[in-house]
Amino acid sequence: MSRTSSSTPLLHAPHDGNGKKVSKTRRSDPEGAAENGIALYTTKHDLPGATRLQVVDLLGQRLADCLDLQSQCKQAHWNVKGPNFIALHELFDRINESVEGYVDAIAERIVQLGGIAEGTVRAVAAKSALIDYPLALGSGEEHVAALSDSLSQFGRTVRLGIAEMNDLTDAGSADLLTEVSRGIDQWLWFVEAHQQSRGH
Ligand SMILES: [Fe+2]
Repeated sequence: MSRTSSSTPLLHAPHDGNGKKVSKTRRSDPEGAAENGIALYTTKHDLPGATRLQVVDLLGQRLADCLDLQSQCKQAHWNVKGPNFIALHELFDRINESVEGYVDAIAERIVQLGGIAEGTVRAVAAKSALIDYPLALGSGEEHVAALSDSLSQFGRTVRLGIAEMNDLTDAGSADLLTEVSRGIDQWLWFVEAHQQSRGH
């Protein structure tokens, strides 16, 4: 999607669908949300503003994690060495492409609900909950271990996100995260299969 105007759009306080303003509170940090002046664009979307505000906040966290994961896939794709080079080099790029699709879907869901998708490298670095990907890794074994750690960690936060979206009665966001979760589970399998043996 592209921007057609360079002017700064007005942000509007969320309302409950009946024209009433709703409080800018989030379960995790109600005061902080108000202090940060978080607000949504007006939309005819029928989910209540208070619900959309919480969904946008939670999806924003998952977006940061997902973008971080995508950069980690490229880090592995570029730097992997060893006898399995070509297989892992190509696998890591396939995962990157898939994760890029998840990034786009989560970001656009945030915008559909009236929020702002915060996807710059600096915003992501400040927000991501994933562990840092070690820069000096070289061997296939090291990259398989590191990327499977990140896929597992992201998979966990996405699964928690599904439960959060269900609690907020946003079936669309729950479905989106379910699709992401299923994809991440598959990629974790593809990566982990390089190091699995019986009993582990
Ligand atoms: Fe490449």
